[in-house]
Amino acid sequence: MSATLAPQTSAAATAPAQTFDIRPFVGPLGAEVIGLDLSRPVNTDDFRRIHQAHLDHHVLVFRDQASLTPDQHVAFSGRFGPLQIHVLNTFALPGHPEVLIVSNILENGKPIGLGDAGVFWHSDLSYKEKPSLGSLLHAHELPSEGGDTLFANQHLAWDTLSAELKKTIAPLKAEHHYLARYAELQARSPWRPNLSPEQVAQVKPVAQPVVRTHPETGRKGLFVSEHFTTRILGVPEDESRALLAELFAHSVQPQFQYRHQWQPHDLVFWDNRSVLHLAAGTPDHLRRKLYRVTIEGDVAY
Ligand code: SIN
Repeated sequence: MSATLAPQTSAAATAPAQTFDIRPFVGPLGAEVIGLDLSRPVNTDDFRRIHQAHLDHHVLVFRDQASLTPDQHVAFSGRFGPLQIHVLNTFALPGHPEVLIVSNILENGKPIGLGDAGVFWHSDLSYKEKPSLGSLLHAHELPSEGGDTLFANQHLAWDTLSAELKKTIAPLKAEHHYLARYAELQARSPWRPNLSPEQVAQVKPVAQPVVRTHPETGRKGLFVSEHFTTRILGVPEDESRALLAELFAHSVQPQFQYRHQWQPHDLVFWDNRSVLHLAAGTPDHLRRKLYRVTIEGDVAY
């Protein structure tokens, strides 16, 4: 299976190789990339190595990306596929509609970014017909404590289900809806503006497979989340609720998790087809600001 990646630019074809290491973490997912500077052109062979490592480890942590500009962040992300624009476009970085500001900072009493992004486990944009392939989150300002991001490996979640439960859920579809918990979030924080009718129209509920096949590796993974999955289709409401509660609890057990403790200038690139993630929380008085770019993936099957 091969990815449909964006065509190489001439800079990528001729750029000198960079010397870098990919060091897998001990645990269920993740690897650190040391020595690669994403603000310099990444040549074709180096890019292939990164692409393969992303498929193998699901979360890549690129250290020390201090020089990376938003334009370069967008350009590197765009080599994996078309980019998605978040429905909360008020939190886009000015001049960069593809960059969502994830931040708890208030300026003149107003939020500069989405402060509660990721407070429930989810896969980015699973509520779109074409959910996200991956997301690249770049640290610009980090708190002195807290602010971690947790990832849970959904291939392991699937692999460890009982044969009976696998058989039950394999053919099922579930509804995913951006607005599933929007009112709840709106009630507890300043980060969720009222949506216009045009914004609501962009995030209609969609049906997704409960178990999806990764389009590049062929591996199966669970594809439900406490944030966006509202119900299993075609089963009675009480059964749907019970089944989802069981799957949510199973999918994020500690043995499937990697906890990312951010270091200055990290850029973390995760595979939304393989992992769920959660923002573990930042104390209100500490500032946190990151830029997120999201790549469109395939229709899930
Ligand atoms: C997200 O869900 O994209 C944000 C994660 C984070 O802020 O740690």
